[in-house]
Amino acid sequence: MLATNRLILGIETSCDETAAAVVANGNRILSNLVFSQVERHALFGGVVPEIASRLHLETINTLIDVALDKAGVGFDDLDALAVSYGPGLVGALLVGIATAKTLAYALDIPLIAVNHLEGHIYANFLLHDQAGHEEDAGIQFPLLGLVASGGHTDLVWVPRMRESMILGQTRDDAAGEAFDKVARALDLGYPGGPIIDCLARQGNPSAIPFPRAYLDEGSRYDFSFSGLKSAVLNYLHQQKQKGKMIDVPDLAASFQAAVVEVLVEKTVAAAMERKPASLLLSGGVAANSSLRRQMRERLLELAPAVKFYCPPPSLCTDNAAMIAAAAFPYLQSREFASLDLNAVPNLSF
Ligand code: KG4
Ligand code: ZN
Repeated sequence: MLATNRLILGIETSCDETAAAVVANGNRILSNLVFSQVERHALFGGVVPEIASRLHLETINTLIDVALDKAGVGFDDLDALAVSYGPGLVGALLVGIATAKTLAYALDIPLIAVNHLEGHIYANFLLHDQAGHEEDAGIQFPLLGLVASGGHTDLVWVPRMRESMILGQTRDDAAGEAFDKVARALDLGYPGGPIIDCLARQGNPSAIPFPRAYLDEGSRYDFSFSGLKSAVLNYLHQQKQKGKMIDVPDLAASFQAAVVEVLVEKTVAAAMERKPASLLLSGGVAANSSLRRQMRERLLELAPAVKFYCPPPSLCTDNAAMIAAAAFPYLQSREFASLDLNAVPNLSF
């Protein structure tokens, strides 16, 4: 291992994915392991916090061993430990935090506390073998970030590393939550996003005119998805009462079109107004094929000077490589957490 490589072991346990990763210099993934608990929660139609904590506890130590093994490094090669300390489920977060603290203490290396939402944005800094990303992502500040996940829909302004300001956020359901709830109403399984994304490819996005919540003048960059979710539920109810069949692909495509349109139009409007150097899409919903395509196309049309970035789908959903990537600037500026670090379930930007 070259002396210039600074290695961070990232740990992520904020929700239903147990993850460990080794990342060099904040951008080169040496290993990235995600153990998804999804099948254990699918039975219940959503994440059961108690089960999530127990499964994290059962899995995390082995996962770290495998992550080091795959990276070809040992504990002694690590320069720091990075862990998500919020937002998320308190019991789940505490498993990762206790593990990271123990290792930091035993190895006598720094502990870095990472905001999970910041982690999502920094997934864009990880190098991967898609066009232009092999050597250097080349991301320039200031940047505009859209974090759309199961718990958040945040539009953030990031003037420089380690600084961020929320421009808008959801007033009710998060975008991913809307996907999950609609999928549940249709009995499609959990998580709903990937299933609806897939079904929507065979459907007509204009089949059902679902509402788009643009909200009032003063809240231009805020989002709302609960009205859309209710409209889908009402539609299902009415069709049932009339004894009519539901065309599931058409419904999936029409619902997805409504979510994507609002996310794209508001984000591109913010890009036109604030003129960032880069626009970074992130969070589980950023794995959505239609969102990725439409954001890229609309940005090219209305704000072509803004460079568009979006991680590959596997780095959009929860993982620990993004936590190690987000920790790197903190390692450089030596901003470390103390060993009394606690979980902050409602942490925001
Ligand atoms: O970021 P993430 O893995 O976990 C949180 O921090 O919440 O996001 C999970 C969310 C779920 O709501 C899931 O349904 C959604 O991301 N999701 C998608 C897709 N893949 C995952 N939503 C739409 N289209 C997808 N392809
Ligand atoms: Zn997440």
